[in-house]
Amino acid sequence: MAAPGRFPGDENVSNEIRVKASSLREMHDTTGERTWNFEKFISHGSSGFTMKLKYADGKNSTSFVGKWGITDKEDAKIAKEIETLTLLRGGDNIQQLFRAPGSTANFNAPHIRGTALFSEWIGNGIIRDFVSRRDTWKHPLPNRMLWKFFFCLCKMVAVMAWPASGGRRGRILPQGGGLPPMSGIIHGDFNIQNVMIGDFGDQEHSTIPMLKLIDFGRFQETDDSDYAVKRNLYDIACIMLHLIGVFPTNTPGMIEAIYQDGKKVVRSRGKDLDGQNPMYNEYKSWILNLDPDLRGLLASCMAVRQDQKPDFVWLAGQVEYYYRNKKASDYTSYQWKDNESDEALRRISKRLILRIEPSGPWA
Ligand SMILES: Nc1ncnc2c1ncn2[C@@H]1O[C@H](COP(=O)(O)OP(=O)(O)O)[C@@H](O)[C@H]1O
Ligand SMILES: [Mg+2]
Repeated sequence: MAAPGRFPGDENVSNEIRVKASSLREMHDTTGERTWNFEKFISHGSSGFTMKLKYADGKNSTSFVGKWGITDKEDAKIAKEIETLTLLRGGDNIQQLFRAPGSTANFNAPHIRGTALFSEWIGNGIIRDFVSRRDTWKHPLPNRMLWKFFFCLCKMVAVMAWPASGGRRGRILPQGGGLPPMSGIIHGDFNIQNVMIGDFGDQEHSTIPMLKLIDFGRFQETDDSDYAVKRNLYDIACIMLHLIGVFPTNTPGMIEAIYQDGKKVVRSRGKDLDGQNPMYNEYKSWILNLDPDLRGLLASCMAVRQDQKPDFVWLAGQVEYYYRNKKASDYTSYQWKDNESDEALRRISKRLILRIEPSGPWA
């Protein structure tokens, strides 16, 4: 138990944040509100601090998250985030505003003064930490896992492109009728610290959980929808590179990329996906284990010239098709072929995501 007035995890936060959190708890405690409580600090960053909270009304109990600012500027950012999450509500891979079990309204704590963002708890950490566990494992991630993650990331881009209808019910593109015009929305901070791993579920998510995009504090809306979607696409390609084990390069080079009308060699920041950079000698076999379809699509998303980045609608179709249709048997000639079966994917997810160590040898 933390000492009175303190919270677990508060040794990592500033005194200012500690004081603010204590005052929130004091306001909370004096009202006699008992359906939820503060649990611990999760983090503090550019737009305030985040705490894990616990909801328990006697019948249901669940974790959720609260984010508060310290300055007026941070409060304004958080208010903007709430607006954005309201706009993007329902996107499969977007963090959802918290609703108490059985309620159809967003959770609210009117007895605590000030701006607060309450959202669902996402239980399996950020991509950055997942990638460092992969490094300890010393294997490249299976291609079929990479396709699944690319699919989730494309759904995030689709929700931003079509806030009311994209990235829903397991599909990237809006369903039914023609495609609505695309928005000019840019996440603006789309990186491995703001993409989290959600829970396992049934069917599609039983072997590999879905990813969830958080932290809309740098969200922007531009007039140029083509630029916006390509900017988000570039960001997700960078995340894919981290998952693969290479970094986006600052010195773009020529690499073969895949387009609707065939393959083309273009200047791209995904250049190091070709495995030629001696900096990656140690990981060369990982890069060579990569599905060339995935390599070619990522190389095009990272093309330097705007007109050499792929059309998102076409790309989404490719990613969805490959995610659904690539089988373990497509990888029998690959070095890490044994990691591609459903069974292996389940085992690898368990170890790298749930952090459950196998009892015997594995992979
Ligand atoms: N819904 C959530 N569930 C679990 N952890 C979360 C959630 N939201 C944020 N976090 C954790 O808190 C960190 C900071 O939250 P974030 O919204 O990204 O704020 P910041 O503006 O400080 O980057 C994240 O990197 C993640 O580790
Ligand atoms: Mg963040």
